[in-house]
Amino acid sequence: MTGSNTNRNPRYPSDFKLNVINLIQASTSYLDRYATALGQVQRVRMVAPNATFAEAYAFAEADLGILQNREEIQWLFELVRAARPRVVLEIGLDLGGTFFLWSRAAASDAHLIAIDARETGRFGDWSPFHLVGKSFAVDSQRVSLMMGADSHSEATRERVATLLGGRPVDFLFIDGDHSRDGVWQDFNMYSPLVTPGGLIAFHDISPNPAESTQGVARFWREFTSKYETEERVLGHDQGYGIGIYRVRGSHSSTSPISSGNRGDD
Ligand SMILES: C[S@@+](CC[C@H](N)C(=O)[O-])C[C@H]1O[C@@H](n2cnc3c(N)ncnc32)[C@H](O)[C@@H]1O
Repeated sequence: MTGSNTNRNPRYPSDFKLNVINLIQASTSYLDRYATALGQVQRVRMVAPNATFAEAYAFAEADLGILQNREEIQWLFELVRAARPRVVLEIGLDLGGTFFLWSRAAASDAHLIAIDARETGRFGDWSPFHLVGKSFAVDSQRVSLMMGADSHSEATRERVATLLGGRPVDFLFIDGDHSRDGVWQDFNMYSPLVTPGGLIAFHDISPNPAESTQGVARFWREFTSKYETEERVLGHDQGYGIGIYRVRGSHSSTSPISSGNRGDD
């Protein structure tokens, strides 16, 4: 009578109970995360489409998290707002602070695309993180979040090209992999998608780097010896600093001013 033996096995009911308890705990924690996300979505919607920098930054800092020096990112925010980009691509979303700022600085019909290697859980596009990120869109803006995507993979670049459907990027923000080669690779892979006259910005270019930003500082030294750039390094902390490059007139625009290779030396 094997069947009745199995039922009398003392481990069987306790394993079952344990599984049920685990399931209830996992569901409760997911429900909590959804409840938190829905609260955040409501607060996102209270930040006006034409919010000032101070209003948008205050929300990003208090509700999302942002890894920026306030004065430096204000400089970039105002430049982006003046340009009113219709296609924005951010590499390195993290908690979404800067991406949120672009939603308030871009055109009312902008397509905002973000790439990040971070995974956002088993529910993909329906995860709490995605619900909040998607809610950044105002008016007829559209948000595409590419989470769990390595910007350096060709498959990711192809997905971006498909999302763009032939439209050029007006503003590219590079704040992902902070190694010297990683920043060069992001620039080399995605700058050809940026329109002539478009803006490319890099974060963490400060010549007084933190340990984690040394690669970007080295990249920036090499980059500025080849391209015309502008920068703001305003804080006293190590790291931070924003550099910008305006793509020049034609598509060779992303070629260096002087000849030389593009970072692979
Ligand atoms: C410094 S954080 C971005 C901060 C954000 N822009 C802000 O200021 O609020 C860098 C992000 O880049 C992501 N990242 C690093 N390497 C990457 C890669 N190769 N592809 C995609 N994302 C990457 C990390 O997961 C991390 O979330």
